[in-house]
Amino acid sequence: MRLATCEDVDNVLALVRSCVDHMRRHGIEQWDDVYPDRMTIEADTRQCEAFVANHETGLMGYVALGACQDPEYAEVPWEFTAGPTVVIHRLMVDPAYQGRGYAKLLMSFAEKHALTSGYRTVRLDAFVGNPRALHLYERLGYREAGTIRHRTGQFRCFERELAEAR
Ligand SMILES: CC(C)(COP(=O)(O)OP(=O)(O)OC[C@H]1O[C@@H](n2cnc3c(N)ncnc32)[C@H](O)[C@@H]1OP(=O)(O)O)[C@@H](O)C(=O)NCCC(=O)NCCS
Repeated sequence: MRLATCEDVDNVLALVRSCVDHMRRHGIEQWDDVYPDRMTIEADTRQCEAFVANHETGLMGYVALGACQDPEYAEVPWEFTAGPTVVIHRLMVDPAYQGRGYAKLLMSFAEKHALTSGYRTVRLDAFVGNPRALHLYERLGYREAGTIRHRTGQFRCFERELAEAR
């Protein structure tokens, strides 16, 4: 794992495309041609909040994190409100490497990085029709806090206290 740079953006976008194709083949309409787009990934890397995971064959994972919360999060009855909060976004694993525990490793890395950066709680959201992502966050001990609506549909919001992060 290492910090993503602007030189990674094209490879990250190729990873996004593979994930979107794979999600569509499985009937998951969470991401599309509109999001996550180049502007979003470039902003992630400019703000030094994005990490890439590499394998021998190239880039196979990505995760972004930062303090900025979507306006919709204001409507969610979060339980963990003490301390600085980080939001994890755009977690993805190359479909060729999915199901081998890499998302768990990426999440563990992101949580540890957030803790050492001074954050105390994590928030994130996942599409109601994305069973693999929902299962992952539940399995990692995230608490469901509510539901919000984004452009592509309903999303379940999750939170976790970092003091107990793995
Ligand atoms: C969601 C995603 C990141 C998971 O990555 P991954 O590397 O396959 O995840 P892991 O191998 O760490 O497995 C996580 C859990 O999901 C489980 N899982 C695997 N396939 C599953 C499926 N089809 N349905 C439900 N759970 C599934 C695994 O068994 C594991 O659970 P376990 O610990 O109980 O065995 C990956 O599928 C992905 O990149 N999807 C496209 C982008 C995306 O949806 N991102 C999430 C945005 S909220």
